[in-house]
Amino acid sequence: MTEKFTDIRENISLKAYNTFGIDVNARYFSRFGSESDLIHQLKFATDTSLAKLILGGGSNVLFERDYEGLVLRNEIPGISLIQEDSKHVWVSAGSGVVWNDLVMWAVKHKFGGIENLSLIPGSVGAGPIQNIGAYGVELKDTFWQLEAIRIENGEKVIFSAEQCHFGYRDSIFKQQLKGKLIITKVVLRLDKDPTINTSYGVIEKELNFMGVKANNVSVKDVSDAVIRIRKSKLPDPSVLGNAGSFFKNPEVPNDRYSELKGRYPGLVGYPFTPDTTKIAAGWMIEYCGWKGKRVGAVGSHKDQALVLVNYGGAKGIDVINLAAAISKSVLDEFGVVISPEVNIIR
Ligand code: FAD
Ligand code: EPU
Repeated sequence: MTEKFTDIRENISLKAYNTFGIDVNARYFSRFGSESDLIHQLKFATDTSLAKLILGGGSNVLFERDYEGLVLRNEIPGISLIQEDSKHVWVSAGSGVVWNDLVMWAVKHKFGGIENLSLIPGSVGAGPIQNIGAYGVELKDTFWQLEAIRIENGEKVIFSAEQCHFGYRDSIFKQQLKGKLIITKVVLRLDKDPTINTSYGVIEKELNFMGVKANNVSVKDVSDAVIRIRKSKLPDPSVLGNAGSFFKNPEVPNDRYSELKGRYPGLVGYPFTPDTTKIAAGWMIEYCGWKGKRVGAVGSHKDQALVLVNYGGAKGIDVINLAAAISKSVLDEFGVVISPEVNIIR
């Protein structure tokens, strides 16, 4: 018999539901494919006063131990064009849609704005949580609004871009509203006549390599280039467990950056605000000798030091200990604090 979305199951392994591949159990586990499923399952968890965790693709979480509450796995489907004018289309997507499926849909229809975000793993609904970003573009650049359910009372709420307080790998949903809402729908405004963004140097290089003429670059060309770059650099979680960049790139005042650059001429940084610079944490981690280093079942990836990997059988605590050792050496060497991007579930 096929499992109904409303079934709440007990003692389920989450290994297949987190890209780190950490084998922990959820005390209760359910999948929802609609708002009504969700409300029903939330009621069960509220009546039993269980902790609740919403999970999309599990590509930005690290489980430290078994989860004693209810894990709600989001599978709300659907992509539809809801409005258009001469320049734009407004596209609504169910929060359980795979993010890259939405990107491929946009690329197929030649709508621009999210092609640089090709192949980012995970669900549409998790995109606003950390304002996903890559290759010079962030979700906030095309975000229009989202719908969510308030966990405490099931009330439906709508957030505009401004209300989301988007920042670098940040939003109100990681701050004041952390764990309080479940995003059910996201609306993006895409361009009918796209402006191609190749500001991130490697894209141009890749397009050149692909033989694409600089004056004739399509949304699909950019998407293809980004996919090729990502495949060459980032480990595929189905082969090697990981959650992408484990740490965020730290932001420091410009004078602090100049001082560090004087001491470490190879240091990589990018202007962030008029007063601050974002430093490539991967460079600092590599400088400290961690790149490609393995400690038991975990390590820092050989091609991207910022990505921590599970070679198989790792526990969450192994990753946490490795991350702590890496942060400490970066702090000792550079005096810079690096913080996790990944959501650690304790
Ligand atoms: P999950 O891991 O399931 O959840 C992440 C957090 O969001 C959890 O706290 C969860 O409770 C919460 N959450 C999830 N869905 C909802 C919802 N509907 N409502 C409320 N809360 C929710 N990220 C980037 O920004 N840029 C990259 O380039 C990038 N590259 C990556 C490459 C690899 C190989 C991997 C493994 C990860 C990468 N990531 C990147 C991180 C990750 O893909 C994103 O953070 C993605 O948005 C996570 O989606 P998810 O559905 O897997 O979220
Ligand atoms: N670098 C090193 N050694 C390394 C890794 C990086 O020296 O091992 C230096 C290189 O000089 C490189 C620079 O760091 O030029 C930046 O590296 P890269 O372009 O790979 O980007 P990143 O800063 O490491 C960020 C995001 C990625 C995103 C890419 C592309 C964060 C925390 N990470 O990585 O997002 O895909 O840029 O835009 O901002 C994620 O969030 O999970 C993620 C993968």
